[in-house]
Amino acid sequence: RGVIMIITTVGNSELLAKKMALSLKCKFRLIKVDNFPDKELYLQFQIKKNELKGKKVIIVGSFQPDPNFSLLKLILAAETAKQLGAKKVVLIAPYLGFMRQDKMFNYGEAVTNKIMSKLINNSFDKIVTVDTHIHRIKLMKDIFKISAKNLTANHTISEFIKSKFKNKVKQNNIAIIGPDWESYQWAEVIAKQVGCDVTVFKKTRFSSRKVREKMIKPIEIKGKDIIIVDDIISTGHTIIEATKKVKKLGAKSVTTICVHGLFVEGAISKIKKSGVKEIITTNSIQRKESKIDLCKLLCEEIKK
Ligand code: R5P
Repeated sequence: RGVIMIITTVGNSELLAKKMALSLKCKFRLIKVDNFPDKELYLQFQIKKNELKGKKVIIVGSFQPDPNFSLLKLILAAETAKQLGAKKVVLIAPYLGFMRQDKMFNYGEAVTNKIMSKLINNSFDKIVTVDTHIHRIKLMKDIFKISAKNLTANHTISEFIKSKFKNKVKQNNIAIIGPDWESYQWAEVIAKQVGCDVTVFKKTRFSSRKVREKMIKPIEIKGKDIIIVDDIISTGHTIIEATKKVKKLGAKSVTTICVHGLFVEGAISKIKKSGVKEIITTNSIQRKESKIDLCKLLCEEIKK
């Protein structure tokens, strides 16, 4: 099999890409991203001459901190890799943006998941992501023509919970909450793997910043250490409302775990103020809350 090189875009995924390169025993190279004086993007692979020729190039880049800028950077990087002779260009986007706008909610809106996938289809040979927002579309192949894999961090998160809350799990003191029906795919699977109670709340969303949470299938909350599990935390309002609900029902403590921590508009401090003891994320987007490492999960997919 051809030599694999791992390359990251400058930005949020550098640490993860370096770890992956180390684990896969392959080269790691940076891509320099800069601007021309008028702010037009400038991009350069930091490589020796002909280093990409005939190689499989893996570009690791989450769509953060700026999803729009990230998409453009990734397209420019993939096309440049091809110009430099790469045989295959793979995108590892642990957090894939543009997946939530998957239909025309109001007439005239851009359905951006389809536009994003069109660009990725044109420039890459394969895409790998983790727990991407698949709701109205059911499968990656509904929008991607290239080989497309949506991995799940569920097992990695379960193992983390089992080790962090070892005694509490043994004493049956843990319960998992999914804050909306879509979160059943994380909450219910993780609870089964951990071996604890679970319930999924009903969320009514009034706007991007206003939601209401309701418990439909009651479980014992009083005196329990509650873990709220979701795929994405953005403004934090979903978690805040779910936290208020379980606190009212007598939860002893609330921890929140998500795959992708976007944390916009001061979400972290707002979540903490609502009474959440600890906020934990995976390193799909690198930040100080990233205590769950996706390196192994992603490397296993590359090795296949
Ligand atoms: C929605 O379907 C997602 O699973 C999350 O619940 C949502 O993105 C969270 O958004 P926010 O943190 O702004 O409430």
